[in-house]
Order: sequence, then structure tokens, then C-alpha cells
Amino acid sequence: MSPDHDLFFNTEKIQPMSTKLIQIFVVLTFFLTACISRVETYQEFSKLPEPLPGSEGQLIFEESKCIYCHGIQGDGNGFLSDGLKPEPTDFTIAGLQDSKVSERWEKAILRGVEGTSMPSFPNFTPNQIRKLTDYLHSLSGSNG
Ligand code: HEC
Repeated sequence: MSPDHDLFFNTEKIQPMSTKLIQIFVVLTFFLTACISRVETYQEFSKLPEPLPGSEGQLIFEESKCIYCHGIQGDGNGFLSDGLKPEPTDFTIAGLQDSKVSERWEKAILRGVEGTSMPSFPNFTPNQIRKLTDYLHSLSGSNG
């Protein structure tokens, strides 16, 4: 083996301790910088205001799994809506200025709609159901 060869394979041996320390220092610096910038990013995000629901009805709609099927915008495009027959109601177009619709909707929420994937929600109070239907009507711009 030539001396050159030895040098090539034994870089460990000829590296002085200080070089190693510098390497460790550089790696640590990178690591700490990464950590600190992550903390900063998190703090920035936590300062952003959370979008608040515009009404109690909207809050109930968004927190009661309605959005799984009817979608966050109430347009029937929730992530569970794919392939459902019949499709979840699109409340952005379904609004009719008719009190009969409200009655039908209230019944649908309380008891579900037979033969469809619309589940029943028997635990809502009449007041909550009214707030829900008011909100659903507001999605199509009607107040019926
Ligand atoms: C698993 C999916 C699913 C979930 C969850 C769901 N729905 Fe439905 N919903 C449907 C489907 C599908 C229909 C359509 C039934 C039909 O065409 O007759 C429907 C119909 C309705 C109707 C009747 C519309 C009409 O014109 O008669 C109302 C009101 C309604 N949903 C409100 C809600 C509310 C409020 C929630 C949450 C509390 C909710 N839904 C949760 C699938 C769902």
C-alpha cells in the first residue's frame, strides 16, 4: 500500500480534535437554529385569529358532523358525499321561501330521512333545530 492510500483511508487519524469539535459545533448550531425558527413559526400561527362561526346555527352545523356530508359550505360536497344516493342536500340552492320546507327540514334532522344516508339527530332541542334550519335557509339567501 502506498502512503497516499493510507492517508486516504485514515482521515480519522489525522483529523485533530479541534476539527471534530468544530464539526459538532456547526451541526449543533444548525439544529438549534432549526428549533428556534420552528418555535417562531408556531408563535406566528397561534397569533392568527380563528375564524368564528357567524351564528349559533352555523356552529352547530359545523360541530355536529353535518359537514361530513353537506360540506362546510352546505353545498352537499362533504368528504363523505362521494357516491351517496341520493346526494346530500345542497343548501345553497335548496332554499325555498316556504314554511313547509322548514317543517320538512326540522323533521329530517330530528328523525333522519328513511332510505337515505341522512341520519337522525334525536338529541337536538327544538331551539337548536330551529337555529340549524335558520342557518340552512341563510345559505341560499332566504329566511323562510
Ligand atoms: C352521512 C351523511 C349525512 C350527514 C352526517 C348529515 N346529512 Fe343531512 N342529508 C344527507 C342526505 C344524503 C340527505 C338527502 C336526503 C334526501 O334527498 O331525501 C340529507 C338531507 C338533509 C335535510 C333535508 C333536506 C330536504 O330538502 O328535505 C336536512 C335539513 C339535513 N340533511 C340537515 C342535516 C344536518 C343539520 C345535519 C347535521 C346535524 C346533517 N344533515 C347531517 C346526508 C347527511
